Parts: sequence; C-alpha cells; structure tokens
Amino acid sequence: MRHFLDIHKTGAEDLHRIIETAKATKQARHDKPKAAPDAELPLRDKMVALIFEKPSTRTRVSFDVGVRQMGGQTMVLSGADMQLGHGETIADTARVLSRYVDMIMIRTFEEQTLLEMAEHASVPVINGLTNRTHPCQIMADILTFEEHRGPIAGKKVVWCGDGNNVCASFIHAAGQFGFDLTFTGPEPLDPEREFIEEARARGSRVEVVRDAHEAVKGADLVVTDTWVSMHDPASARERRHNQLRPYRVDRKLMSLARPEALFMHCLPAHRGDEVTNSVMDGPQSVIFDEAENRLHAQKAIMRWCVTG
Ligand code: CP
Ligand code: NVA
Repeated sequence: MRHFLDIHKTGAEDLHRIIETAKATKQARHDKPKAAPDAELPLRDKMVALIFEKPSTRTRVSFDVGVRQMGGQTMVLSGADMQLGHGETIADTARVLSRYVDMIMIRTFEEQTLLEMAEHASVPVINGLTNRTHPCQIMADILTFEEHRGPIAGKKVVWCGDGNNVCASFIHAAGQFGFDLTFTGPEPLDPEREFIEEARARGSRVEVVRDAHEAVKGADLVVTDTWVSMHDPASARERRHNQLRPYRVDRKLMSLARPEALFMHCLPAHRGDEVTNSVMDGPQSVIFDEAENRLHAQKAIMRWCVTG
C-alpha cells in the first residue's frame, strides 16, 4: 500500500516504472472502446473515492474512466457536500473513508489536508492537486514528451510565467527524471526556493532567467499555465496580468526555442493571456495528448499504489 503524494517523495525508479507501465497499458488498449475493460484488472472489486474541493474537468473524468477501465468503481464527492467541509476533522474523515473505499484521490487547497488524509487513511491516497503541487499532471507530461521525443533526461524544459503548483511539480520532476529546467517569470512569482534547491541537489540544472527571450533559447519543451490559479484571490488578477504579460507564449517566443521544441499547457487555458491561439493550435502544441495522457499516467499510478 503506497500513497502518491508528490514526485519528489516517490523514488526515481518507481517513477520511471510508472511511466513505462503507462506507455505499455496505453498501447495495449489501442482503439478499444473507452468503456471496455483492460486485459488486466488491478482494481477489480475496488472502490475509489474521488474528492474535489476545487473544480476539475480532466482530473475528474480521467480518474473516473481510468478506475472503470481497470475494473473498479468510483464515487465522486464534492468537499463542500461532505462533513469535511463543515468541521469534521480530516483525520476522522480519512479513518471513516478507509472503511468504505480502497483508494482516495483528493484535490484540495492546503497541502496539509492531503498530508493528514494520507497520515490517517489506511488506504492509498493520491494527490489530485493542492495549492502547492500537481504531480499527476507532470507524470502525464513526461509520458507525453517521451512519446513524441524519446527520453526527457538531459533535455531543457522552460517554464514561462507563474511559479505555481504545476511549475513546482515540474521542478520536482527535473530532479527525478534528470532534465534541466529554466524558470522565466517575474521575481514575486518565483517558485519556492526549497524546490529549486532540492532538484539541484539531485544534479539537475535549475535556473531562473528573467528575460523570457533569453530563457527559451535551446529549449526542447516550453510550458506555461494560467496566470491566476484556483487558489489565487480574484483581487490579484490585474496585478498578476501586469506582471506576467512579458511571459506570454506567442509564436515569436516559440521561434527562439529549438525547431523541434514542443509546447505544453496542463489546461484549462486562458487563450490570449498566457498563450496565443497560434501556439495552442500550432504544430508544436501537444496539449490534447497531455490531456489524454492524464488517463494513462494515472492508471499506472493507481496500479502502483495497489500492487507496487
Ligand atoms: N489539468 C487539470 O488538472 O485540469 P482540471 O482542473 O480540469 O482537472
Ligand atoms: N495552476 C492551476 C492548475 C489547474 C489545473 C490551478 O491551480 O488553478
């Protein structure tokens, strides 16, 4: 029984194994109908709770479909409708849920909620995004990069914009998968120092470059995300837009990366803000492969959680 809480808290070998499993199980499905079960059913007779304290399209649907393809059943719960949202402790919620379900995926605000859930649950807990990290997304992104361009080790990834939760998990992945990461964004929105130091300690080159045009030179992959995340106050919108405008990914910026560079965005995107339509819909964009790969990466994560 293992939790999947973050990329830097999971062993590098396990992470690689999860990616390889995802590639294999994706291929094995070919063009099977979406509701058809996999050949192997590691979640047969298992019940999985999917808890959302924030909105979601991809995480919600991909986990739900993935569990069913692996032979299990799901219940999708909104945090606000649970006693969790009305003062019941996370520890008690975790203990109770563990009596009913075999696995818990939670999308929440504070990282502490996720950690307490994992501490007190006797079933695997998966991080479906917190204010601080989004590891499932980056597992899908690694899978997507490797499908298109081969091993990501040694490549240069450039993150443009807000040093947010998705960026944090990319930095963790740099340390674990051995690629270099350049962050380009305004200083007040820098990623957490601790994450950068940790990836560096694992031998990856993590740089902060203020000039976006300098930063993307030599990039194999350019990534961005929304300028205002779900946990950011609406009042910060205008300030963030002003700070982040120089980091918009447009055709000119992409032209400074390597000619074979890919473009990624975890979605949902705000077209015209952090990225232009010409890049979103351009030949370097793999955004819908990323979205699809949430399904395959998370199936491999769930399999790892229950079977090792
Ligand atoms: N990328 C991602 O996590 O999307 P959702 O918010 O739709 O789940
Ligand atoms: N950074 C975004 C990611 C959404 C999938 C957010 O937290 O809102």
